[in-house]
Amino acid sequence: MLDKIDSARKNFDEALTKVNDLTSLEELRIKYLSRKGIITQIVDSLKDVPKEEKPAAGKAVNELKNYTNRIFDDLKKSFESEKKKSDSFIDLTLPGRERVIGSKHIITQTLDEIKDIFKGLGFSVYEGPELENDYNNFTALNFPADHPARDMQDTFFVTEDFLLRTHTSPVQVRLMTSKKPPLRALMPGKVYRNEAVSAKSYCLFHQVEGLVVDTDVTFAELKGTLVAFVKQFFGKSVQYRFRPSFFPFTEPSAEMDIWWEPKGKEGRWMEILGCGMVDPNVLENVGIDSEKYIGYAFGMGIERTAMRKYGIDDIRILFDNDKRFLTQF
Ligand code: PHE
Repeated sequence: MLDKIDSARKNFDEALTKVNDLTSLEELRIKYLSRKGIITQIVDSLKDVPKEEKPAAGKAVNELKNYTNRIFDDLKKSFESEKKKSDSFIDLTLPGRERVIGSKHIITQTLDEIKDIFKGLGFSVYEGPELENDYNNFTALNFPADHPARDMQDTFFVTEDFLLRTHTSPVQVRLMTSKKPPLRALMPGKVYRNEAVSAKSYCLFHQVEGLVVDTDVTFAELKGTLVAFVKQFFGKSVQYRFRPSFFPFTEPSAEMDIWWEPKGKEGRWMEILGCGMVDPNVLENVGIDSEKYIGYAFGMGIERTAMRKYGIDDIRILFDNDKRFLTQF
């Protein structure tokens, strides 16, 4: 009898390892504890056990019964709570949660577009630091020591020698001192000017600088490149003009305007960039032989260009980070 009880317990333990849900648990319970179940049958057969063996056999059967009952109760509880949990967590009929996906800022989009156009014209992209020294921002670019642009009114000086760059032209200097011509480079980035904030100007904006240095560069090529750019960027029918201008680091220099007609307002010419042939002094400052090499450069303001393209009339809205504005693009 005791052997029978022992092997029933072993079989039960083994069967238990295959139980993994309420259904298989119930099957096991029926097999062992129902009216015709294995343990019930053992209890019934107690009456045939010789008298002197009865106490020990009875005790063993009771233990087995209690043991299996406890396991069934515990497992049942844990399966039920697991089921409850999974039932309440996964409701496949619920609508999905909407995820808010950010978008590129309109200035980044514009920069990407400009980069793509110039990459198509054979330019490579370079970047320089926003914290610049006075030499790269001014001196190397042929600004005389007393030039008004160095004045505290325009420039955010950080120390006597360091400042927040006022244009991307210092990246020209960095590139020409570190790389040998021929060069065909596009240099985008943020620039800073200490100006009163208004609808037209902000203390921070973006520029894209262009620089080509080679032995046979011409002003006609500079014009051709910029015309190709505005036609791709604004559309073939864009109206443009070049005006003579002055920059310390280019000679001759020009500015390019495009015709802007804001909806419902009178049209006018709007300046989008400055350009010119790299001044031989600048080439000498960076150690390039100005007898052998010629260069052209241009620098354009991105905010203005984007505002013209998308019909925005206040530059400040580009820096407010108001989602109602940003998500329109
Ligand atoms: N750096 C000039 C500016 O900020 C633009 C410029 C760049 C002009 C290159 C000529 C050549 O206004």
